[in-house]
Amino acid sequence: MQNFEFQNPTKLLFGKGQISSLRKEIPAYGKRILLVYGGGSIKKIGLYDKVINELKEIGAFVIELGGVEPNPRLTTVQRGINLIRENQLDFILAVGGGSVIDGAKAIAAGVPYDGDVWDIVTSKVSAPSNSVPIGTVITIAGTGSEMNGNSVITNWETNTKAFFNSNHVLPRFSILDPELTISVPRDQTVYGSVDIMSHVFEQYFHGSSNAPLQERIGEAILRTVIETAPKLVNDLNNYEYREIMLLNGTLALNGLTAMGVSPDWSTHLIEHAVSAVHDIPHGGGIAIIAPHWMEHVAAVRPEKVAQLGVRVFDLDPAGKTDAQLAEEAIQSLKKFWESIGAPTKLSDYGIDDKEIELMTERSMLADQIGSYVSLSKEDVRKILRNSL
Ligand code: NZQ
Ligand code: ZN
Repeated sequence: MQNFEFQNPTKLLFGKGQISSLRKEIPAYGKRILLVYGGGSIKKIGLYDKVINELKEIGAFVIELGGVEPNPRLTTVQRGINLIRENQLDFILAVGGGSVIDGAKAIAAGVPYDGDVWDIVTSKVSAPSNSVPIGTVITIAGTGSEMNGNSVITNWETNTKAFFNSNHVLPRFSILDPELTISVPRDQTVYGSVDIMSHVFEQYFHGSSNAPLQERIGEAILRTVIETAPKLVNDLNNYEYREIMLLNGTLALNGLTAMGVSPDWSTHLIEHAVSAVHDIPHGGGIAIIAPHWMEHVAAVRPEKVAQLGVRVFDLDPAGKTDAQLAEEAIQSLKKFWESIGAPTKLSDYGIDDKEIELMTERSMLADQIGSYVSLSKEDVRKILRNSL
């Protein structure tokens, strides 16, 4: 294991009816609030009214920033920063999915920073320690943004999707009521399930050694998704399945399985480049790219892919080489994702080879990416071509 520091102070308020905790949690941070939400799903499910009611209860002054896009945009973040500055607000309440929460985090960090918030998003400068405090109400299982310090933002003018990570934007509290996720449509439910699995993969395929506990925790999350997601996609209103998936999403990316290891993250960098150019749903892009990334790394280092096959997909290792097991593991993963209705190729989203060079370019945040297997530009181009 590598040396590591770990701090995750986000308070989780999990379960039915936890929305009423807002009146108890918010006053510690102030009553002048920026309420951030997405394209309207929170109004359809009656959550907006409940939140407003809670805010009234504590006599809050509220300014709204609605319409945060899936794959949230820099221009929206800049609007949020201006709203906080103009109205001297002291707390951000993000109500929605990963996009809404990520947007809120970039706003939080951008407010006390004199320069362009894009400097923070691209990690040129660190998020300030006096970032505006955030609370969240998560409405879709997947990103884990409700309990991590990540924010992923798209600069649509330059087709760049960048991310930063800072403890200064970790939510102070997050409300996780599985009932609020019941309205998530089937396709987004599938994307969330894929995203959770991929977050485990990114940390499971690490460049470090001696991390058996972290890997076993990851395998437990993967097995739980594999057991639950097929039942959930055929029974979207099932509260028990929703609660399992919600907790899975949070634990898959709250730092637990990244302790002491250097995660890979190549699949995410490549997917972020695809959605920066074509604006597709994150989990959909991951479902397409991840198996091709895995094929590439299996050719170089099959052992961990083989381990995944045996421990997660219950392959029988008797008489098989790591390369054979890795190949079967990838087939099992593809079969599983197809069975729940995930997309399999970029052409499912109407993407052809025209922008391959741009997507390759945008994936390469450094000359080499990845830590389990290091990828060159040529490797990324090949993975993208295989994904068409
Ligand atoms: O915008 P609204 O109307 O709210 O609709 C959303 C959106 O259309 C809808 N939705 C959310 N909750 C719903 C619902 N519809 C019905 N009922 C509900 N309860 O779902 C759609 C997708 O929402 P979005 O927030 O975009 O999804 P997700 O949570 O998957 O977030 C995706 C973003 O997170 C980034 C991705 O790159 C992408 O930009 N990521 C963030 C990470 C992090 N912060 O740690 C890690 C991830 O790997 C990922 O990169
Ligand atoms: Zn993801």
